[in-house]
Amino acid sequence: MNDRQENILTVNGLSVSYGKFQAVQNVSFSVLKGEIFGLLGPNGAGKTSTLSALEGLLKPQSGSIVIDGYDAGEKPLYARASLGVQLQSTSFQPELFVIEVLELYAGIYGLTLTRNQILAILGEISLEDQAFKKFGQLSGGQQQRVSLVIATIHNPKLVLLDEPTTGLDPQSRRQLWERIEAIREKGHAVLLTTHSMEEAESVCDRIAIIDHGRVIAVDTPQALIDKHRADPEVISVSRRGKITLEDVFIALTGKTVRA
Ligand SMILES: Nc1ncnc2c1ncn2[C@@H]1O[C@H](COP(=O)(O)OP(=O)(O)O)[C@@H](O)[C@H]1O
Ligand SMILES: [Mg+2]
Repeated sequence: MNDRQENILTVNGLSVSYGKFQAVQNVSFSVLKGEIFGLLGPNGAGKTSTLSALEGLLKPQSGSIVIDGYDAGEKPLYARASLGVQLQSTSFQPELFVIEVLELYAGIYGLTLTRNQILAILGEISLEDQAFKKFGQLSGGQQQRVSLVIATIHNPKLVLLDEPTTGLDPQSRRQLWERIEAIREKGHAVLLTTHSMEEAESVCDRIAIIDHGRVIAVDTPQALIDKHRADPEVISVSRRGKITLEDVFIALTGKTVRA
C-alpha cells in the first residue's frame, strides 16, 4: 500500500515516558484517509499521551509519526499543518465574545472569514444566538461545541479529538457525530478517544484497544466482536444475551476499575 496515498497517519513503535514511567509503549497503528478511528482504553491507558505526542505537545521517547506523508520528527510544521486539534475550553479567553473567539482562531489559521460566515459556523452548532455572549458565560457543553468547531474551522485533513462527547447532552452528541461524519465524507479523517463503546461500535470504522500503554487489538468493531464472540471470558461478562463491543473490551482489559 502506498503510504502517502492511503494513510493520513502512521504511528510506528511510539513510546512516551514521564521521567521513568512509560505511559505509551511501542504503539503502532495507522489511520486511513476518510476513516473515523477510535482509540479505546480504560483511564490511564495512555490515550491522551498518544494524542499529545501526535500534536507535538510531548516529545516521544522513540518511534515515528508520519502525518500526511510528513515525518513529524523531521518536518514538524508540515506534518502538523494537516491537523485539527480540539483544545480544552479553559484554553479560550472567557472575557471574549463567542464570535471573537472564532474570529481569533480563524485568524490564527490564516482564514479570512466575514462576520456572516462566522455566524453561519455558529449556526452549525446552534449557537448563533449566543454570538455576543462572553465565552465564559456559556455552559460547559456549549463551550465544548465551540472548541470542536474551532478544531475543524480550517478544514484539516486529520482531526484529533480527546473524549469529544464526554459531558455532552444527547442532542449535542448527535450533532457532533454528524459533524464527524461530514468530515469523513470530505475524505478527511478523525482520530478520537471515547469511553462510549456504543458510539465506537456505531460510528468508528476501526478502533484500537489500548491498555497499560500498549495496543492490544486493532480492527473494525464488528471484526473484534466476531473474533472474540466465542471466548469464554467474553461470554462470561456478556450481560445482554448478545455480544457487544463492550463485552470484548471488558474481557480484554479486565474488570478492575482504574484510578
Ligand atoms: N504529566 C504527567 N506526568 C506523569 N505521569 C503522567 C502525566 N500525564 C499522564 N501520566 C500518566 O500516564 C499514564 C497515561 O495517562 P493518559 O495518557 O492521560 O491516559 P488516558 O488518556 O488513557 O486516560 C497514566 O498512568 C497517567 O497517570
Ligand atoms: Mg485521557
